[in-house]
Amino acid sequence: MRYALVMPAAGRGTRFAGELPKQYARLAGRSVIEWSLQPFLADPRCVVAVVAVASHDERWPVLTPNLHSRSAGARLVTVLGGEQRCHSVHNAIAQLSQHGLGDDDWVLVHDAARPCVSGEEIDQLLALLASHPLGGLLALRVTDTIKRDDGHGGVAETVPRGPLWRALTPQMFRLGVLRDALDAAFAAATLPTDEAQAVELWTQAGRGRPQLLEGSPDNLKITSRRDLALAEAILQRRLARGAA
Ligand code: C5P
Repeated sequence: MRYALVMPAAGRGTRFAGELPKQYARLAGRSVIEWSLQPFLADPRCVVAVVAVASHDERWPVLTPNLHSRSAGARLVTVLGGEQRCHSVHNAIAQLSQHGLGDDDWVLVHDAARPCVSGEEIDQLLALLASHPLGGLLALRVTDTIKRDDGHGGVAETVPRGPLWRALTPQMFRLGVLRDALDAAFAAATLPTDEAQAVELWTQAGRGRPQLLEGSPDNLKITSRRDLALAEAILQRRLARGAA
């Protein structure tokens, strides 16, 4: 089995690192994005890794020589990201046919801001979705009680949490499905916040559904300083076990 990695990394989220976008914050001796790429570059099934970066990103070109040398075979390709995450993903998948991928081949989309994804999670996704017609995503069941506000800080209602999940990445879809779903979303003037949302909208026409697979709570997205400290602890624990 082979797959392509698409990594949207064009966000300018600088909430906690001043001028530095969060994918370049320092984490356990490397930058966040190097950790996020690591398990894919180490995987011989990953044939190409397309990273979408912001225009005038001066940090990415500095990292690429090291990343090339860590790759087990994946070609590392850089594209320009877009206005929103979905545009960055769209720009990246447009490259994939040039790299020998066909419509039935798999694309794994993984946020640059999720540095604690593990090789086991990638193995699980690839194994469990291998014969799925569309694909699916890692997700976590919601465990807190969920409230909907009334727009003024009061509680309007408690939302039943039974069927609710939090979407993580990687999200894994067949190339043709993902491309057609994103094209259809843009044509309908919708900007999906993840790949599964685009596929959900596209499959309302009765084409099946993306599959939810339980991921790990360790696979957190960096949005605050606290997340960075948690990620540091997770990666240091793995380093101490020789598993990072
Ligand atoms: O902002 P958020 O944490 O949701 O971003 C998720 C991922 O999407 C990050 O890796 C970020 O760099 C990427 N992104 C992008 N293009 C944008 C906005 C976000 O590639 N225009």
